[in-house]
Amino acid sequence: MFGNYSITGLSLVALGLAAALAGCAGPQPTPPAATSTSPYQTAAVLSGSEKQQIRLGKLIFDETPKYASAYVGNKLSCSDCHIQSGTAAHAAPMINMAKLFPMFNKRAGRVISLQERFQECFARSENGRPLPMDSVEMKALTAYVNSLSIKGKKGEAYKGRGFVKLDELAGNPVKGKSLYASKCAGCHGADGAGVPPILPPVWGPNSYNDGAGMDDPKKMAAFLVHNMPQNYPQSLTAQDAFDVAAFVHSMPRPKFNQAYKNY
Ligand code: HEC
Ligand code: HEC
Repeated sequence: MFGNYSITGLSLVALGLAAALAGCAGPQPTPPAATSTSPYQTAAVLSGSEKQQIRLGKLIFDETPKYASAYVGNKLSCSDCHIQSGTAAHAAPMINMAKLFPMFNKRAGRVISLQERFQECFARSENGRPLPMDSVEMKALTAYVNSLSIKGKKGEAYKGRGFVKLDELAGNPVKGKSLYASKCAGCHGADGAGVPPILPPVWGPNSYNDGAGMDDPKKMAAFLVHNMPQNYPQSLTAQDAFDVAAFVHSMPRPKFNQAYKNY
């Protein structure tokens, strides 16, 4: 079944699926792939225990509901949005992320650490709860994101950071609904529920909550226009992306728990 979804034959997509399958087969961690020419550094220079941390962090990133279950309230993994284990340009990659923090955060109204940013993601995108600073999962995720930041300079953003820039257009949810039916429902389901963990939900109880970054139609449009449909990326016009984002935005999803409003 997986073969049907890697029509573009992207080797990284195949690698991602292989990693997911390895994860299902048992505790057989896959080290982050890297070459000397990659924008991020391999774990080769690190000590054994650091490598273990990085491996666990990558597993958590790729299969969050499985490896950080205590803090997750839905069926989304970090890598469902931060594509290719957080290495794909214009899919909010983690490359050099550790060198950008601490950073001013608009939502929090103050300077936050990378770990506080992870806590936000758990409370919002993962519809769960902030993971403790001293938890095994926090340390592992930190090690993984650090491993993608070795080559970068302090304060210098990776050129593929965030999403592509789009001028804001008015989205038409009625047009978006028919676009969704023809270009998205085949993978994400007519009911938006997907087939997790391979095909992520886009609305409903297993999706991100209404406090998440992806709940902003402009951000979603910028994500979609470069990254979706996964088997034919960059085939949507900016208007298509705003229309389908407006439709997905109009569908039900979990409510952000206000108890976590400081995250
Ligand atoms: C539903 C999609 C989604 C999921 C799941 C998700 N994120 Fe994000 N994340 C986003 C969006 C959207 C942004 C904002 C990107 C932007 O504004 O450019 C973001 C931003 C971030 C940033 C800051 C990036 C930057 O360039 O400043 C970090 C770090 C991050 N996420 C980590 C994580 C981690 C770790 C997980 C898993 C525990 C996770 N995210 C899960 C959608 C998601
Ligand atoms: C061929 C299958 C496929 C198609 C078609 C497809 N997607 Fe996706 N989508 C995925 C996969 C797989 C991911 C996880 C990221 C990755 O591995 O590329 C994803 C991730 C997403 C995400 C972020 C994670 C989440 O679940 O919230 C959104 C939003 C999304 N897709 C929306 C769409 C929309 C809208 C369309 C139609 C324009 C679409 N997708 C078409 C397979 C697909």
